[in-house]
Amino acid sequence: MEKTSAPAASIVSELLLLLVFLAAGPLLQSPVEGVVHYHDFVLREKNFTRLCSNKSMLVVNDSFPGPVIRVHKGDTVYVNVHNQGDYGITIHWHGVKQPGNSWSDGPEYVTQCPIQPGTNFTYEIIFSNEEGTLWWHAHSDWSRYSIHGAIVVYPVNGTTYPFPTPDGEEIIVLGSWYEINVNAVVDEDLRTGGDTPRSVAYVINGQPGDFCNCSKESTYRWVVDYGKTYLVRLVNAAMNAELFLAIADHNLTVVGMDGNYVKPFVTGYIMISPGQTIDFLLTANQTLGHYYIVAHQYDTARPDVTDYDQMNASAILMYSGNYTAPGIPIYPSQLPAYENHTAGDAFVARLRSLANEQYPVDVPMNVTTRMYITVSMNQILCSPPTCAGINGNRLASSMNNISFLNPDMDILQAYYSNLSGVYTPDFPSWPPTMYNFTEYDPPFNVTVPIVATKVMMLNYNEEVEITFQGTETLNASEDHPMHVHGYSFYVVGSGVGNFNNVTDSLTYNLVDPVQLNTVRTPKIGWVTIRFKANNPGVWLWHCHLDRHLSWGMDTVMIVRDGGTPETSLRSPPPYMPKCKVPFSHWIRNFDDSDEEYAQLFSH
Ligand code: C2O
Ligand code: CU
Repeated sequence: MEKTSAPAASIVSELLLLLVFLAAGPLLQSPVEGVVHYHDFVLREKNFTRLCSNKSMLVVNDSFPGPVIRVHKGDTVYVNVHNQGDYGITIHWHGVKQPGNSWSDGPEYVTQCPIQPGTNFTYEIIFSNEEGTLWWHAHSDWSRYSIHGAIVVYPVNGTTYPFPTPDGEEIIVLGSWYEINVNAVVDEDLRTGGDTPRSVAYVINGQPGDFCNCSKESTYRWVVDYGKTYLVRLVNAAMNAELFLAIADHNLTVVGMDGNYVKPFVTGYIMISPGQTIDFLLTANQTLGHYYIVAHQYDTARPDVTDYDQMNASAILMYSGNYTAPGIPIYPSQLPAYENHTAGDAFVARLRSLANEQYPVDVPMNVTTRMYITVSMNQILCSPPTCAGINGNRLASSMNNISFLNPDMDILQAYYSNLSGVYTPDFPSWPPTMYNFTEYDPPFNVTVPIVATKVMMLNYNEEVEITFQGTETLNASEDHPMHVHGYSFYVVGSGVGNFNNVTDSLTYNLVDPVQLNTVRTPKIGWVTIRFKANNPGVWLWHCHLDRHLSWGMDTVMIVRDGGTPETSLRSPPPYMPKCKVPFSHWIRNFDDSDEEYAQLFSH
């Protein structure tokens, strides 16, 4: 067990408790051994030099990306987050199900209020059936661009991977680099209604690499020994981009995703959506030399209107030993081009669960709740039309035409204390208006969302099926990586165009569907997922493109208690951060008593 020590804190004696606990959470099928780990995360501003300039950003324990948390399946981790920055922060443990423990899940105004500067808050992170790679990141404003790190979940001691034990392991975290003060610029963009900033480079373990200005000296290098096989744990922590990655002359064997194993398959490249993690094996079996690892954006938006970040991030895989390497590392010729949809789709289509005796699937077969949810880009009308978004309006996004509005206090507290007036339990399970979702130029009225705090309520153990439908509103379709907190789900089907519930449901894979916590809704297409609502609490659903989350492409799912202590939301910890700073949402500047706007919704 390792400890991430806080640089400023005095050395705290390492406390290690080995305990055996019984199946306490509803997600725990059998007794497991769990170790308890303690970490301190000290958040403070630090200077970084990239792309020939200097900037200060808030990071954990002075590092970017932040520290790695290593556990075994079923462990518990306490992380005391000390906020020495000058704005409020929350942290989310992406992919950790936290049975019954929404209190430590992190999203601001959903399960907690921000940890204010000068204060601290201890998260209790409960691992259950996750195994593989997950990650943690800030879940307030756009702070996660600088505040994120990997989580490694090893098999329980005495058990092994479902593949030969690798000789070594490597963590690759992909991120976004900005030269601006991100939160300040985003705040202003949300205020004016205009587009949010693009990154100026992507980074591999914090470094843009050889193809970017002033970056060559610090390119990330990974040294491998000839003949060895490595388990590579890849995290897409980029803010707003799906990414392709390839390693010159090396095949990659994908073995896991989002904390679950998959049927191994060999590929030359990877497509990873933001929020996702992919585990793959790499055997160092090529001529001793230097090989580029390259990652760049996979863009599915309209190339004629979007001017996306086309920087190629690079790192170098270097063989150890005595040899003369050529001056320039070999470039991965198999890396797909930025807009290669065929390559993006082909990668996703290969994902399957192991679905064997040791790793069975448990796909819900008797669906009791079915939802059909559109994910759309929208505009909120400004009158006069002087806002900075499209047509002088505000940019927004929505799920089933509801653009989610964060309340002033967290929904979890309101739900737990039975307070009314914070949210309404009426998130629609069907699009309020049916139209041809995928046709070019849909009618004007469907481009204008309702701004509200509507949540979906589910009974415990309900078997849920959700189909996400991408739309062409504002002619701004693109992939939407939809992520849920507290759960993973089976991806039973996906296709292009409008979902047809008669014919498309016949194509579902109920045998070995992949199990994820973040799934790509394909551009003007659909994806169907299933899960059992066996984790009581308050859980956020959202698009993992941060700009879409900021614009309202999110909702909250409340899963009611199951009737026993083991199947109920836990009681709150003794201290939760106070909601003293009201949420300064862009909608506060918008006058919804406005006549013209009101008329739009009068029918
Ligand atoms: Cu990475 Cu709300 O999630
Ligand atoms: Cu999106």
